[in-house]
This record gives sequence, structure tokens and C-alpha cells, in this order.
Amino acid sequence: MNTLPPLSLYIHIPWCVQKCPYCDFNSHALKGEVPHDDYVAHLLADLDADLHLTAGREVRTIFIGGGTPSLLSAAAMQNLLDGVRARLPLAADAEITMEANPGTVEADRFSAYQRAGVNRISIGVQSFSAQKLERLGRIHGPQEAKRAAHLAADLNLRSFNLDLMHGLPDQTLEEALDDLRQAIALNPPHLSWYQLTIEPNTMYASRPPTLPDDDALWDIFEQGDQLLTAAGYLQYETSAYAKPGYQCQHNLNYWRFGDYLGIGCGAHGKLTQSDGQILRTVKTKHPRGYMQSRYMDKMHQVETKELPFEFFMNRFRLLEAAPREEFAIYTGLDESVIRLQLDEAIAKNYLLETNAHWQITQHGKLFLNSLLELFLDE
Ligand SMILES: C[S@@+](CC[C@H](N)C(=O)[O-])C[C@H]1O[C@@H](n2cnc3c(N)ncnc32)[C@H](O)[C@@H]1O
Ligand code: SF4
Repeated sequence: MNTLPPLSLYIHIPWCVQKCPYCDFNSHALKGEVPHDDYVAHLLADLDADLHLTAGREVRTIFIGGGTPSLLSAAAMQNLLDGVRARLPLAADAEITMEANPGTVEADRFSAYQRAGVNRISIGVQSFSAQKLERLGRIHGPQEAKRAAHLAADLNLRSFNLDLMHGLPDQTLEEALDDLRQAIALNPPHLSWYQLTIEPNTMYASRPPTLPDDDALWDIFEQGDQLLTAAGYLQYETSAYAKPGYQCQHNLNYWRFGDYLGIGCGAHGKLTQSDGQILRTVKTKHPRGYMQSRYMDKMHQVETKELPFEFFMNRFRLLEAAPREEFAIYTGLDESVIRLQLDEAIAKNYLLETNAHWQITQHGKLFLNSLLELFLDE
């Protein structure tokens, strides 16, 4: 195989000031100070140990996620990104995103992160209602969220994103739309608009709040989507909206089934090797074990028969048409191995096929599970 998929780098920072009741991310309430320098040293050692899996490829995007990456000091962020640049070929125009919690953002630190190389900031706003933020267990109020968004806007970064959630406990349609209006007024190039889900093993799972019913959720989605569209945002994935040209390149690479190296506690990786094998890696989840230099938790080779399902499961999250040639580049398989399944999907009106593309239909979106099942190897 000579064409390998584009490569991204994910870096996980596992601490938060406190744990939000709805959150099942690998995040731990901070006891004491973040071990800034130690953790960065471990991240770079973890990266060193994985470098041989990247086949010397250039990294196109970096995403520093959490947890709360904005708890990391500016000096630690500088060392981290300097260390990455010294170890990997990084594309000259690489998108480098960092997640920030509005309650942990200081003006000086934002511009220092930018000097370290961060060119896209993703701010976890969630809602602009003080009462809703309190119920969500957030450590910030609406004013801090607005301040963080203004800071990001003033830095003239390549882009910035606001994370909002809807379908919040006891939320009305008007409250959900008001959150969107306030977000749109801040003019972010990108908006992530997630429906709150109750995840197992969270505080909300053991004591569930009252959420809007399915009809109310549908109205929120429909009218919210109209509001966003009218404001110039295009939906390109279930929860992702962007002004034209501002889609998140890092997430696009995941959804196109691109490759990514994952470093830090609990980080996942997917790495195509020069011989066509695809490896999945999972790093040690808990900071304690990870910081005893036990970085790799699991590594296994993806079986060839699983690849078509995995490819389409990611790919069909995107609303854009899928170039047919990408199937071979991203899975290493020839399109002929899925010809029968494709024909069945087309016959069932789940999929349209042109010479160059596949496009999922509205019917295919409604019956996504049935469509994906066609590509499951029994
Ligand atoms: C890793 S968190 C992001 C950053 C930062 N830790 C924060 O919370 O501000 C990514 C985003 O996922 C969304 N999210 C987290 N848990 C969720 C849930 N249970 N349902 C829906 N969205 C969720 C939130 O919008 C959150 O900002
Ligand atoms: S701040 Fe973000 S990562 Fe941390 S617990 Fe809350 S939602 Fe999860």
C-alpha cells in the first residue's frame, strides 16, 4: 500500500476542577495542583514510544482535549508543543485546537497558549442560563463564558468554537433557543450543539433529572437548526455546525476514518501501517498508572472483516458525500469486497451512488442501523 490516510494527534489532559454530573469523559477532580511538568514529560515519553507506528507521516491536526486542558500552565503548554514539534513533522498550516473551560481561563494564558502554537480554542459554554449552569454543576457563570468567547475572538485565532448543550433538565424550547441566540451573537466560526445524554456511571445516571420529552426535543432540534442555518452556519455532522470553511479539520479526520495517534491518559489511537494493517491503541486510563510510565494499555490489529462497518459508521456521521476512492485509501480494501452490500443499500434507497461518490439518503439516515448492519461481517 502506498497511500496512507492523513494523520492527526490527540493529547488528553485528564483533570478538572470538579466533575460535572453528566460527564463520562476520562476526567478526574483535581486534588492539589496539576503536575504540569511531570505530566508533559510523560506525554512526550508516551509520544516517543509510539513514533515508530506513524511511518514518519506529517501530522495535519492536533487536538488537546480533556478533562480541562486550560488547567495546564502556559509554560507547560509551550513545552508540550515544542516537544511535539521536535519529534514529529507537523504540517505548516496544522490546525491546533485546545479545549478550555470558561471558569479556568485567564486572559494572559489565552495569548500565551496562542504563542505556544494553539490556533483554535474550543470553549465549553454549555448554556448561558445561570440557573441551568448551576444545575449542570458548572464552575462558571454566563458572564465568564462570554468573556472567554470575547478573549478568543480578540486573539484573531484561525477559529474558535463554542460547545453548547440542549435538552437540559426542565429546559423549554424558548430557553434552548435563547442559548443559541446568545451564542450566535458572539459570532463563533464553529458551534458544537450537543443533545444532553444520560451516560452510565455518571451522577445523572444514578439520580436522573427530568429532561424534555421526545416531542419537545424534536421542536428544539428543528427550530434550533433553522436559527443556526439562518445565521450562516452549516450543519456538517450530527452536532457540528460551522461557517463555510470553518469545519473542524481534526474531527473531520476522525469521521473520514483517518489515522490518529493518541497520547495521554485513556487516549485512543488508530494507525495504518505501511503493510496495510490497522492498529488500535488505548492508553492507560488512570493518571496514577499512566504517570508510573505504563502508557500503553491495549493494542490490537483491526480485523479486515470489521473495516467496512467501521469506515461507514464514521463516514455516515458526516452529511457530505463520501468520495468512493477514499474507501481504498482509508481501509486498504478494494471496493469490490463490498459491492454486494452497496448494491443492497442502493436497492433499499439507503444510499445513492455516482461515478465518484456515495451519498446517504434521508431514508438511509432514518434507518442508519439497518444500513450499517449490511456492512457487518456475520
Ligand atoms: C470533553 S468536554 C469539553 C471541555 C471542558 N471539559 C468543558 O466541559 O468545558 C466536550 C463537550 O462534550 C459535551 N458533553 C459532555 N458530556 C455530555 C453529555 N453527557 N451529553 C452531551 N454532551 C456532553 C459538552 O458540551 C462538552 O463541552
Ligand atoms: S469540565 Fe468538561 S471534562 Fe470536566 S467533568 Fe465537566 S464536562 Fe467533563
